[in-house]
Amino acid sequence: MLGSADPEAGGALFRRQCAVCHSVNEGGRNGVGPNLYDVVGKPHGHLENFNYSAALKAHQGPWNYDELDRWLANPQGYAPGTRMGFVGLKDPKDRANVIAYLRSLSANPVPLP
Ligand code: HEC
Repeated sequence: MLGSADPEAGGALFRRQCAVCHSVNEGGRNGVGPNLYDVVGKPHGHLENFNYSAALKAHQGPWNYDELDRWLANPQGYAPGTRMGFVGLKDPKDRANVIAYLRSLSANPVPLP
């Protein structure tokens, strides 16, 4: 799915549905949600200067593609009690596109699976 994903469509979706809470520029300011520059492959709760919920911090390990997919499908199901007030993306293609977009926000994008 990620191989055929469209990061530009993911960027457009991101600007409509995610950018209200998240900046994506390098070193960008946190909003309601944390800045998401270079988040793919980083630990859950990857920023020191953002006050994450215990629900999110309870998840160990890096944000790999599978974890991001499950998180974006259903944030409350993935991390019950999370502060991310977002209903989720039902369409797997939307999730693949937005994950491909997040991956592109990096000087050294994580290899595709
Ligand atoms: C209403 C505001 C809001 C919207 C809309 C939103 N988020 Fe979030 N997001 C948050 C908050 C708040 C957190 C921190 C959650 C916590 O600590 O429980 C978060 C956390 C995250 C994280 C984990 C970051 C980390 O450092 O571990 C990712 C990835 C993420 N959001 C992606 C997205 C994407 C992609 C979208 C759009 C499809 C989106 N978010 C929409 C508020 C939002």
